[in-house]
Amino acid sequence: MNKIEVIDISLDYMDNGKRFHALDRLSFSVKEGEFVSLIGSSGCGKSTALGVLSGLNHPSEGKVLIDGHQIKSPGSDRGVVFQHYSLFPWMTARCNVILGINHAREKIPKREAESLAQEYLNKVGLEGFENKYPYQLSGGMQQRVAIARTLAMQPEILLMDEPFGAVDAKNKMVLQDLLLNLLQRDEHVKTIVFVTHDVDEGILLSDRIFFMNNKRIGQEIAVPFSRPRIRNEIFDTDEYRALRRQIMSLFYQNVANQIGGAEVYL
Ligand SMILES: Nc1ncnc2c1ncn2[C@@H]1O[C@H](COP(=O)(O)OP(=O)(O)O)[C@@H](O)[C@H]1O
Ligand SMILES: [Mg+2]
Repeated sequence: MNKIEVIDISLDYMDNGKRFHALDRLSFSVKEGEFVSLIGSSGCGKSTALGVLSGLNHPSEGKVLIDGHQIKSPGSDRGVVFQHYSLFPWMTARCNVILGINHAREKIPKREAESLAQEYLNKVGLEGFENKYPYQLSGGMQQRVAIARTLAMQPEILLMDEPFGAVDAKNKMVLQDLLLNLLQRDEHVKTIVFVTHDVDEGILLSDRIFFMNNKRIGQEIAVPFSRPRIRNEIFDTDEYRALRRQIMSLFYQNVANQIGGAEVYL
């Protein structure tokens, strides 16, 4: 059985009294244990789709099933990491993580929550920074806290919306490798839906890529590399280059359609 089934989701936003169609009969499914990425140009509906999976956005039509049951609201089975770190600025890294743990498990004893928070902060490489406030941490470190907070809630499904979109190129690579490593060993998170517009990131991390076009999935692309994955080994292969070219051509087709059918050569 599929872990997640998105069935014919349509979603309209009201903007200044006008109805705007953001998703149009979007459908896809994700198996348990899979890492899938939604890729597409800005504005194609990736965040809206992830919002529906998280239960924060309500579709006008269609439904999302998790383990066969329709979801209608957020739940502790789904952890979300956004592009902006969304930490509480008046709380230390440790308190931000504890807050997440208490939210997911209301009755957890204080001591247990504290040691769980420390365990996850260590996992993301923040040992020694527990008592720092967000303003004392770099963007990459703040995103590590946000990841620690979400993983410490021990969800089965991880939803990530361009989580490395705001960090510099080097930190982005470090965080991607950290995420691959963490997920390889995490006992709770099994299924991941990841939003990005970065083709290399999509290939490095995913088992399947859904390219979004016309407010739904335009194409599904399988990523054949085995795990654990090592960036340099993958990026050096002909298979990788072919895959990258295939996805880039989908982006260019998109651009060509928007600017009136201009031909683009790769
Ligand atoms: N709250 C909102 N109200 C009105 N329009 C919105 C709202 N959120 C997103 N949109 C519009 O819906 C479309 C899809 O947005 P979004 O899902 O954020 O795209 P993406 O994440 O792929 O960049 C965009 O055209 C965006 O402007
Ligand atoms: Mg977005």
